[in-house]
Formats: sequence, C-alpha cells, structure tokens
Amino acid sequence: MNPRFDDSSFTVAIVGCGGFIGSHLLDAVLERTRWRVFGVDLDFYRLQHRLNHERCEFLCADLADPAVVERIAQFPLVVNLAAICTPSRYMGEACEVIRSNYDHPAALATACAKSGSWLVHFSTSEIYGKTAVESGELLEDSTPAVFGPVTASRWSYATAKLLAERFIAGLPGLRWTVVRPFNFVGPYMDFMPGVDGEGIPRVLANFSTALLRGEPLKLVNGGKAKRCFTSVHDAVDFLFALFDAGLGGSLGSGNETVPGAGVFSQAFNVGNPGNEVSVAELAQKMRAIFAKLRGVDVSSLPEPQSVSGEEYYGAGYDDSMRRMPSVAKAERLLGFRARIPLDTALEESLSWFVKHYDVAQTP
Ligand code: UGA
Repeated sequence: MNPRFDDSSFTVAIVGCGGFIGSHLLDAVLERTRWRVFGVDLDFYRLQHRLNHERCEFLCADLADPAVVERIAQFPLVVNLAAICTPSRYMGEACEVIRSNYDHPAALATACAKSGSWLVHFSTSEIYGKTAVESGELLEDSTPAVFGPVTASRWSYATAKLLAERFIAGLPGLRWTVVRPFNFVGPYMDFMPGVDGEGIPRVLANFSTALLRGEPLKLVNGGKAKRCFTSVHDAVDFLFALFDAGLGGSLGSGNETVPGAGVFSQAFNVGNPGNEVSVAELAQKMRAIFAKLRGVDVSSLPEPQSVSGEEYYGAGYDDSMRRMPSVAKAERLLGFRARIPLDTALEESLSWFVKHYDVAQTP
C-alpha cells in the first residue's frame, strides 16, 4: 500500500461527495485509507450512514460561492465531481448546465492553481461530441471533437465540459488530471422520478424505474446508440491507481524528483471497451435480469417501445451514436484496466435499484 494512504493527517476534498460517484469514492477512501474527507455537495441523502463519521466533515454548499471555492482549494487533493450531467436537462436549462460545467470548475481550478492543490477534474466521454455509428476508438489526445449545430442544445453540456478541459490545461501552475467517465453504472445511480428526483434520469435508472412500474422501456430513436457501460467499482479502482501514482506510488513517472509526474497534465478515458452494447440490447438484458429477479417469464413484461428523441426529451435533443474509449493511456501510465463485465455490473445495479425503491415506486 502507498504509505500516503496511511497518513491520517491527509485530507481529500470531494466536491459532489453526495452524488453517485462521490458516495462510492467516499466509502472507498474511508475503507482503504486513513485519510480525512472534506465533502461538499448540495445534499447528502446518499450518505446517511456516513454523516457522523469521525473522519468526515461535510459542507452543504455550492461552487457558486467564492468563499467555498477558496476553502476547498486549501486541501492538497481536490476531486471535483460536481456537475449537472443528465441529458434531459441540457436543452431547457442550458445556462445552468454551462455554469455548473464551466464557470464553477474554472473558478475551482483557478483557486487550486494558486494554492498548489492537485485537481482531479471529472470531465465526460461526451467531449468527443456527436460520434457516429462507425466511429472507432476515441483516442485520449488525438480524436477530433465534432458537435451538432448550435441549435441542438443537447451540446450545451459537452461544449462547457470541453471548454473547462481547455481552461484547466491552459492554466499556468495548476497540477491537474482530467478523468472522462464512460457511462458508469452501479448502486445509487441517479434517481427514481417522482420519488427522489424529477425528470428523466440516465438510461439505466430510467429502464430500472420502468421495469419496477411495469411500464415499457422507451428506446430513443430505436435504441441504436451504443455505450460501454462501466462499473462504478472499476471507476473507484482507477481513482486509487491514480492517487497511488500521483502521490508517489510505485507506478509514477520514474522521475524520482517529481513523484507521479506521469499522471499530471493528462486526460484519461475511464471505460470498459469490453462492455459495449446498443441501448436496444441493454433493454433486453435488463428485462431478462428483472424477470429472473422476480421469478417471472420475460414474456410477461411489456415490450420496449421506440420514441423519437425530440418527442421524449424536447427540442434540441441530439445523440452520440457510439462511444468506444481508448483506454491505452490508463494502461500505460497506471497499469489500470476495467475488469467488471457488463452482465455483472447490470445485475448489481438493477438488484440494488429493485431493493432500494421497491416500496417507494409510487410517486
Ligand atoms: C450522459 C451524459 O451526458 C454524459 O456526460 C455522461 O458522461 C454519460 O451520460 C455517462 O453516464 O457517462 P448519455 O450516454 O447519452 O450521456 O446518457 P443516457 O441518458 O444514459 O443515454 C444513453 C443512451 O440511451 C442515449 O442514446 C439515449 O437516447 C438512450 N436512452 C436514454 C433511451 O433510449 N431510453 C431512455 O429511457 C433513456
């Protein structure tokens, strides 16, 4: 184990600590290290079991507040997960989406550049833009980004995230690493509409909700788009490999005077290329898992239905048709490769969703 993980005087700031990825990261930090955690979010309902933990301090606040940004940047390691990241909001709330995905991260990056903190910034696989069905691997540093027209407001999020990446990479003196998640899934992902959130969550939570409510799964434009769904546990393992290297572990740059220099000023794709599936195939897999969990025949569940993207999400919706990550950089610099197969990740996510929401399914 990296001796830094044993350092009880070290504090990691996790911004977006109460969210899906943040809650898993918090658990892992408390289980795998002796670190303290400074957790910031607008709500902490996923963290009820951690609220009184002796190594945690939680702040209910927003990065819109400069005093909060300054406080976060006092910690040596800052992980920024805070973002509006559900596509159903990219059209109607474009300005808020841009503030949350560009203005706030840019302010935090500026404060970290001044304080000398290492900023691990969560970007998105969506910075590669409107990828076509025939797109190949999305290479970390060389695949061009092509977006839909300005009228397709779906791209408000991706353009803000891309600008944030450019800002971070251009900021003098900042020690940074960018992480681009490829459709992480697992327990605590998103919400159940009408129970603990409103609107349309991302596909896994949306399909899980429909299954629990006995409604047909909606396939946007026939469900032809493909994604590589990646277990959140692999994502957390990636972060620990990154921390290990950046804080002077065995997998650093080999440059002894600058521990882990190989992982600074780098953007990593974090995804599982072996888990590619179309959304229509995902629907069939989830129906089969749900039928098994309930002990019923899959034919008793409603058949999926196709809907147009604009009809479902509203004007300005557009889509990426394939998102296949190159994970070569994570392998080369960290020796990391995602391991959890699709079926295992889906079974875990859906079983959790069913157990967690079954009694609460009525809005
Ligand atoms: C979203 C975010 O915009 C990304 O930034 C984020 O990184 C990504 O999720 C992620 O989870 O990593 P997207 O993959 O388009 O991007 O999100 P989903 O809403 O989960 O949609 C996936 C696909 O399923 C899309 O083609 C969508 O049209 C389709 N879909 C979604 C359905 O067919 N039915 C639904 O009920 C929901």
